[in-house]
Amino acid sequence: MSKIRIDISKALPFVDQTSFQSITEEVIRQYQTLLSGTGKGNDHLGWLHLPTLATPGFVNRINGDSEKIRSGSGIFVVIGIGGSYLGSRAVIEALSDPFSAVHPRHEGIRIVYAGENLSEDYHNSLLKLLDNVDYSVAVISKSGTTTEPAVAFRIIKSHLEKKYGQEKAAGRIFAITDAAKGALKKMAEIEKYTTYVIPDDIGGRYSVLTPVGLLPVAVAGFDIGKLLEGARMMEELLFSTSDPTVNSSVVYASIRNALYRNGKIIETMVNYEPRLFFFGEWWKQLFGESEGKENKGIFPAGVSFTTDLHSMGQYIQEGLRNLFETVISIEHSNSSLQVPADDENLDGLNYLAGKNISEINHMAELGTMLAHVDGGVPNIRISIPSINEETIGQLIYFFEFSCALSGYTLGVNPFDQPGVEAYKKNMFALLGKPGFEQKGIELRKRLF
Ligand code: PA5
Repeated sequence: MSKIRIDISKALPFVDQTSFQSITEEVIRQYQTLLSGTGKGNDHLGWLHLPTLATPGFVNRINGDSEKIRSGSGIFVVIGIGGSYLGSRAVIEALSDPFSAVHPRHEGIRIVYAGENLSEDYHNSLLKLLDNVDYSVAVISKSGTTTEPAVAFRIIKSHLEKKYGQEKAAGRIFAITDAAKGALKKMAEIEKYTTYVIPDDIGGRYSVLTPVGLLPVAVAGFDIGKLLEGARMMEELLFSTSDPTVNSSVVYASIRNALYRNGKIIETMVNYEPRLFFFGEWWKQLFGESEGKENKGIFPAGVSFTTDLHSMGQYIQEGLRNLFETVISIEHSNSSLQVPADDENLDGLNYLAGKNISEINHMAELGTMLAHVDGGVPNIRISIPSINEETIGQLIYFFEFSCALSGYTLGVNPFDQPGVEAYKKNMFALLGKPGFEQKGIELRKRLF
């Protein structure tokens, strides 16, 4: 059963009811297009049935490898960028104790990330850390040729080989890549790395429920069976009907397209739980890369409240009226803590004594929602009972499905990303990659 609830009552007043109705009808037509596999990018629909197709054997293989990694390593380095990185980090951070990495009695493995930036200092610090600890590595790249993870992997592979020797180092490397193509695939074959395949028909940002996301999540100690089960429940529900009274993806895709057509061109994902920060980053990539093309698309932004109420809150309340908010609302926290009473009450906080922090957070959420709605910011609320593997699995599938529906309604192919090539070509030309010589000359003239 779905544990996700969507409330658009604070967004509906911002759209015309007749056009909302016709957009919903359009979304329902796009639902048929998605399910029948007749829309744009229909060779990239492999993610649609990942949860139901995941076999116990597949889950056991990942869990077996993760046990091996956990028993021989204090650190697991996850190398990847974009869709090959954000999904696992979103899930791991959502489920982790925020202080586990600095806890003095921390036992077990820590997950660190590389290949998602080109900072020299970052890589040097990482190598210093790896000098003194046993570690294993996942190198994740569907194309197997992306520069950032390839550079990080070359550096870390060389470090690992110096530390353990080539053969033992190879036993600590897990390559997740295409079944046949790319430099990483070739390297994995020659060096005999343990390899997982990213299916051809699944793009990076829809790959969190493949080994791309599942291996790091399992190594971090979380139950990937439950994550997949949550996603499976959502798959079943969303496939069962396009009726908006049941299908929350149809509702979400409809309202965000209706708001967009009404000039609300920025969507801000709001969390009230710091550990959902990277979930927002994953969501930003999913929607930004899927919809931002052909000179159209909602710009996905993210804020963490109440933190950002003291910074971005001012803009949201009174800035340009071209945005709407989508709040991930958590009904129950996983632990309990009350504000203590204080006889002297010097801070004047005794009116909160005995109240749970989550109640204060909840009232901040409701109060902010009304203030922002009064200020002209439509509010969509997506609620889950609490944060755990199952509900995160549901949210992942819900947003993937909604993104596909929403992209089709916008009229774009939600499964390609032609725009990310432009920076790569310039970077290659400036760095002197063979084949880019002429472009290099042109760019240098413009720069120097
Ligand atoms: O969603 C996508 O397709 C992208 O964000 C890719 O995941 C990202 O560019 C990394 O690509 P690759 O996995 O080929 O290294």
